[in-house]
Amino acid sequence: MDKFQITGGRPLEGRVAISGAKNAALPAMTAALLTNQRVILRNIPRVRDISTLRSLLEDLGVDSSVTHEAHGNRIEIETRQLLNPVAPYELVKQMRASVLVLGPLVARFGQARVSLPGGCAIGVRPINLHIKGLEKLGATITFDHGYVNAQANGLRGTDFRFDTISVTGTENLMMAAALAEGDTVLENAAREPEVQDLADLLNKMGAHIEGAGTGKIRIRGASRLHGTEHTVVPDRIEAATFLTAAAITGGELVVERCNPGHLAAIIAKLREVGVRVLPAGEPGADGNQALSVKAEGKLQAADMTTEEYPGFPTDMQAQYMALMTQAGGSSAITETIFENRFLHALELARMGADITVNGRRAVVRGKTPLSGAKIQASDLRASASLVLAGLAAEGETLIDRVYHIDRGYERIEEKLTQVGARINRISEFD
Ligand code: EPZ
Repeated sequence: MDKFQITGGRPLEGRVAISGAKNAALPAMTAALLTNQRVILRNIPRVRDISTLRSLLEDLGVDSSVTHEAHGNRIEIETRQLLNPVAPYELVKQMRASVLVLGPLVARFGQARVSLPGGCAIGVRPINLHIKGLEKLGATITFDHGYVNAQANGLRGTDFRFDTISVTGTENLMMAAALAEGDTVLENAAREPEVQDLADLLNKMGAHIEGAGTGKIRIRGASRLHGTEHTVVPDRIEAATFLTAAAITGGELVVERCNPGHLAAIIAKLREVGVRVLPAGEPGADGNQALSVKAEGKLQAADMTTEEYPGFPTDMQAQYMALMTQAGGSSAITETIFENRFLHALELARMGADITVNGRRAVVRGKTPLSGAKIQASDLRASASLVLAGLAAEGETLIDRVYHIDRGYERIEEKLTQVGARINRISEFD
């Protein structure tokens, strides 16, 4: 397994370009199952989860091609036919987002057999709401051998309220309802930018979706959808991770090709703790804009509670915890989305951080010097937190199991090296 070797203590300086959002690219790719025409997706990040989903689409019998472009990859997908409506355990266990084929397969082909994702490091991760919504749309659901089977002779529009806000649950049902007969209203829907981006894509494909980005989404079913071209939004979590990297190293970065509108909660919190974040340059035609970030003087601790969008994202909680180890004072971090998302705290403590975890609440007492250590990544965003800590630590940090980080960050060691970090990848075959 690859490792990252980091020598900390150097402030990051320079410009870094943000890749397309993994969590927008994944549902965009499964949306291509809804039509027999070509769907062209751009600004697709070169990360492991995208390759995993391409393998799953190929298993389903779906042709796809990848072309390197200036910013990310272009993926072209054509679902003329379906050979095999099964998403196998071997792929779903690698990536829970594989469940995003469920809605499109049932809507277009009337059948799907998807392995239940099982839990992961951060929580149980059920899909009961995805299933309840599909049943309400008229699918017949059965379970056997760890798989969910969904059958339908056409879906019918319905009203469905999510008991808990679910990002991929909202995405799955939006895609299914796009080909249902009649109108669907999703209540208590997720508002994430990635949900909005998927709705934009579906509407370009001929769907009729209103209200994406609010808690109430209306979908008027279409008899069929057609091909289109779409550029996915920038990755707000990658952007926020680099903003935090500048802050934790006391450096100054210009973060390019991001969308500040998707980062409001994060920018507000960084400013609260004493980080200067300002727009840099003019906004692009696509609404993307660069941000300049600089840690000015000492960081001040501030409490933070994760919330569904537009609140502070759970996917930035680990990175924020690393930052708080370098801030003066105590900060209480409350994780409201997942039940076990503090695994990084144990590794940060081994580097010298003072963190007390009690259930869904962690208290960080800063500022504590961090010293480099051998540590282990547990999940995608915890890995990013450990990289940030390594950049701020004195001495050398060796992070094992960096395949976690490769799932969602494109060439992170190259991007960090370009702005002055001393980080290299030690391949297990070196
Ligand atoms: C999406 O996961 C993201 N993944 C996650 O990002 C992100 O952490 C999460 O949303 C929350 O923002 C993708 O978009 C591919 P949820 P998702 O359904 O959709 C409960 C990353 O780092 N729930 O919004 O799987 C669930 O247990 C990943 O890129 C049910 O109870 O998350 C959790 O407590 C990690 N029943 C809460 O809802 C369900 O049927 C939110 O989960 C579905 C969810």
